[in-house]
Order: sequence, then C-alpha cells, then structure tokens
Amino acid sequence: MCINESAIVILGASGDLSRRKLIPALDSLLQSGGIDSGCVIVGSGRKVLTDEEFRGHVGASEAIAPLLRYHAGVEGLRSFLSELGDFKTIIVFFSLPPKVYAETAAALRAEGFGDETRIIVEKPFGYDKDSARTLNRKLSEQFPEERIYRIDHYLAKEAVQNILIFRFANSLFYPVWNAGYIESIQIEAAEELGVESRGAYFDGAGVIRDMVQNHLMQMLALLTMEAPVSLDPEDIRSQKVNILKALEVVRYKRGQYEGYRNENTVDPDSTTETYAELELRVRNFRWEGMPIYVRTGKALGQKGTRIGIRFKKLPHLLYNSGGELDDNPNHIIFHIQPTTGIIIDHAVKVPGTDRDITQSRLDFSLSDTFGPALADDAYQRLLMDALAGDRTLYVSAAETELAWEVLDEVLDNGDLFLYRRGKMPESPLGINWVKFGEYEMDH
Ligand code: BG6
Repeated sequence: MCINESAIVILGASGDLSRRKLIPALDSLLQSGGIDSGCVIVGSGRKVLTDEEFRGHVGASEAIAPLLRYHAGVEGLRSFLSELGDFKTIIVFFSLPPKVYAETAAALRAEGFGDETRIIVEKPFGYDKDSARTLNRKLSEQFPEERIYRIDHYLAKEAVQNILIFRFANSLFYPVWNAGYIESIQIEAAEELGVESRGAYFDGAGVIRDMVQNHLMQMLALLTMEAPVSLDPEDIRSQKVNILKALEVVRYKRGQYEGYRNENTVDPDSTTETYAELELRVRNFRWEGMPIYVRTGKALGQKGTRIGIRFKKLPHLLYNSGGELDDNPNHIIFHIQPTTGIIIDHAVKVPGTDRDITQSRLDFSLSDTFGPALADDAYQRLLMDALAGDRTLYVSAAETELAWEVLDEVLDNGDLFLYRRGKMPESPLGINWVKFGEYEMDH
C-alpha cells in the first residue's frame, strides 16, 4: 500500500496515543502486509528528538523502527517529507488537543501541504453545536471536506460494522424493521471504570459529550437509517444524516457517581454527569411512535456495549408461557463488546408438556466463528481506510453538527441524581431495559 507513494505523519507523536495505539497498529499492519517497508512514518512533536530517541520513546519494534523518522514541529515538515520521497498521498494524524486543530491545519497549509494531504482528527469535534460549526468551518478553510477524516472509533468495531450487514444482507429482518413491529430500540454502553486519570478532560465534558454525541448516536443512526443506494461512503453517510435530522430527545436524566467530586482534577462542586439515560424518537415515516432508549455511564461495575431490539407483543398468545417468558419472546441483541455476537431470542415448545413454551436463542459469536479479534484492529482499519481514501468509517461535518444539535438542550442541563459506584443504577426513566446480562453468552 505504501510503497514510496504514501507517508504517514503523526502530529503529537511523543504523546500517549502514538505509543499505545498508532505505532502498534502500524506495526501490526506491517506484519500483516497492510503496509510495507517502503512506507515512511514521520513523527512530529514539540520535543526535539533524534530518530533513534523517537523510536525508543514509542517502543518501536525492530520491524517498524527503520520506517520511523522524527521531525520537531510543523515548520519545515513538508520539505523534510520532500527529501524522503515524492508522495502521492500524505496522511496527517492529529494526535493533538482539539483546541489546536484549527491553527495546526492552517500551519500545515502554510507549509505547503496540499491536495496530496488527508488529515485525520479525533473527537471531540467541538463542545456544542456552535463550537462544532466554527471548528468545521475553520478546518474547511484549509482542507476540503473530502480530505478531512473524523474518527469515531466505534465505527471501526467489527460488531458495529456488522449492523448494516445484518440489516441489509438479510431478507429475513427487512419487513419487520420498523415501528409497526419493533417496540423499542435500546442501546447501552456501560463502563466499569470511573474517570481515572482523565478527570480534567472529562469534567469539562460529561458522558453526553463524551459518549452519546458520537458513539451512541452513530450506532443509533446505523440501526435506523434507510438502505443506502450503494456502498459509496457518501451514500451511507447521507442516510445517517437523514436520521440525525429527524432525531429528537423526548426526555432524559443525568446522574453522577458518588465520590466523583473527590476524583483527581475534578471540580469539588462539579455538576458534570457521569451517567445519562435518554429517550429519543426518529420523527420519520418508518419510526414514528417508537422510542429509542440509550444509556451510558462510568463506574457501573461492568464494561459492556449492547443493543437490544425488543419486538412488539403478539396480539393474542395461544400458548402457556409458564411465566418463563419475558412479556414477549422476541429480541435481537447485538453484543458489541466485550463479547461480540448477535442473539435472536424466540419461543419454543417445552418437550413433553402440554402447551408450554419457553424462550430459546440463536446465537452467533464472532470469535467462535472467525477466531479471536485482532488486537488494535480499530486503528489498523482506520489507518488502512485513510490510506485507501475510504471515508465510510469516518464521520462527516454534517453528522457531527446535527448530533450536537439534537443534544443542544440537554447539555449541562437538568437535575443530577447520585448513584453508587460499581453498580448500574435503577433506570431513572423507568425504562424496561432488555436484560442483557441474563442473555450474556458464555463464550
Ligand atoms: C472514548 C471516550 O471515546 O470512548 C472514553 O472518550 C470511553 O471516555 C471510550 O471510555 C470507550 O471506548 P471503548 O472502545 O473502550 O468502549
């Protein structure tokens, strides 16, 4: 992929992300043949380092070390690259604080980075609707939208990509995928840990900015969007945009775990939410009337992202459920992580008895079927796609702005309830959540 044609530049290369994620991802790509030894990877940061020091700093393996070069700062970076080769594509990864995105993009342009350059930026993209618009406008003054790659690492998760395949490659579910048959869609992202060492960042954000605006909204859009006319990235993204345009928050509650205000670098009077539960609606022809519930939080005692599709009750139940069935036997559950798979719950006859039925399940496990997932695969996938110019798994300016708009009234607004650290709080909106735990696969 890279042979003397592409270069990858990491800005903020002496930081944590490049050591923990980016260099290991590039190393794995080198080993799997995704990139080859003709590829040039240039780290750039404020520190003055030699190539050797940089390699040591990021813990480069013997294999990747010869590909790594270092250049301090953005000034002179373009001519440094020119000396290394004539690159058709230059990927510039912003591993930087978002507040310097706009000025960095301007500095790159001033250095002569032009049509060959694609920039990759990590969230947060803005802080609210207005700041997101301003940031997008400033970036677009330097680079056109088609060369701006906004990461949402959830889109690169296998199980999240599988949502569209499940919906649009199976004729079985197509007729029932609407408010006529589905009672509710439920999306849950629980985190075991509290804010740990990220108090300073997190306290200025909260889970609605940190998780709902991006990861949960993206999963929601994939679950509810219309079929794209093709797999062209723009066709997929425009269908997600249509959902975000029709989306609104009906009600919500924000919570904070006990002891959060004593966390390192957290304001002792903080009103930042560490938990949020929302009911949303997509106001369109397919989904009118059906609630979508989302909840996410820190310090919930378990890590797990799951999606439940709860189907409506039958108009009349002919059989004896013996009390063992949920009020409706049919759910589809997507386990996004840590286990990855899809479960379909349905009713079956209990052998030998009269007319008793009970719940059974069809169970697809990604790792049982295809082997264990690759380590660091999200960043590998994202880097490969950026090199190939494929923006399917990246988020457009319109998507980010609309997602902020949906949440505009909710941000920093409303009472906070306290919950015990280490336990999922009882649903503050009184929602009948699918019991994901009971359905947990044992592999
Ligand atoms: C990040 C958030 O985007 O996603 C973190 O900033 C959060 O606060 C993380 O912990 C969760 O990602 P994952 O892949 O571990 O579910």
